[in-house]
Amino acid sequence: MKALVLSGGTGSRLRPITHTSAKQLVPVANKPVLFYVLEAIADAGITEVGIVVGETADEIRAAVDSGGFTGLDITYIPQEAPLGLAHAVRVAQDFLGDDDFLMYLGDNFIVGGVTGLVEEFRATRPDAQILLTRVPDPTAFGVAELDEHGAVIGLEEKPEKPKSDLALVGVYLFTPAIHEAVRSIEPSWRGELEITHAIQWLIDRQRDVRSTTISGYWKDTGNVGDMLEVNRTVLETVEPRIDGDVDEASEIVGRVRIAPGAVVRDSRIVGPAVIGTGTEITGSYVGPFTSISQECRLTDSEIEFSIVLPGSSITGVRRVEASLIGRSVEVTPAPRAPAAHRLILGDHSKVQISS
Ligand code: DAU
Repeated sequence: MKALVLSGGTGSRLRPITHTSAKQLVPVANKPVLFYVLEAIADAGITEVGIVVGETADEIRAAVDSGGFTGLDITYIPQEAPLGLAHAVRVAQDFLGDDDFLMYLGDNFIVGGVTGLVEEFRATRPDAQILLTRVPDPTAFGVAELDEHGAVIGLEEKPEKPKSDLALVGVYLFTPAIHEAVRSIEPSWRGELEITHAIQWLIDRQRDVRSTTISGYWKDTGNVGDMLEVNRTVLETVEPRIDGDVDEASEIVGRVRIAPGAVVRDSRIVGPAVIGTGTEITGSYVGPFTSISQECRLTDSEIEFSIVLPGSSITGVRRVEASLIGRSVEVTPAPRAPAAHRLILGDHSKVQISS
């Protein structure tokens, strides 16, 4: 069995944070979402992995190459344009050959991995197996309709009037039966070859399409609340480990991971929290559910339940909470007089000031 990871697409910027042009590299607990995908694949015992790449190929390759995935045999498969998930399967056909495969969208995060699912598929081998989850707004997803026995009877891509609240999660298991389906369909109203249509093609031909419903699913939609929440969930499972340099005057409490090269002076860090390499924390408090990336400076400040991306500094500010701070951002107090807020904010920023 092989794995096909979809990390193509254009380099459109994420809102409200423009930290990277590849959405598969959004960090959760200081690690790109794509890395969790590759780890889940390795955990499921799959070693041959094709990664479909588009405009952001260089960024994806550089990240994956530095990720230490030595147990995986990775092939990069270029896709000339993001013409749809079924198009990605078409361009990967030579790589996939006659093997069954796990298709995993590189911007999807599944709490707890996919090992159980892959084992079930290996044992039962339906033509296709899809994953579903209940969501509050199904219109942003592929949506499944099930009959009273739980069998999949219909799939629709981003319907205006969804027939259920069961969204398609970006993990699919296929036998080679999918290849005829992806060759047989036409582009949708949005001009893409939809994998939902290819699966519907199988359903219409009475092929065996099964579904499993899961909880614990996240996809980056630019929603900061959701991002803080998935960060919180993952931090709760982080192995505590202190590789950085922590002085005697500092106190580290609970589940805290401090990367090599990080320096903590005269500070208190209460986990779960992660501190990236090269980051300096001085005279500060870092509270639970906080991820501070590499090369940041936190001086005489307090922060909790937040994400700070690489190269940012926070000086003399208390307290920052429920915040997402982008790359190379500087946060400082304003001079005392005149009492005014001085803001330089990027596109799509959101600020809440307590004054
Ligand atoms: O995330 C789950 C949803 O993913 C499903 O509910 C939908 O049924 C499915 O169509 C898909 O919807 P999106 O419109 O959200 O997919 P998106 O364009 O974000 O692409 C998902 C991933 O696949 C992303 O990592 C980029 C990659 N991709 C996408 C396209 C269209 C490719 O590699 N090539 C492509 O042609």
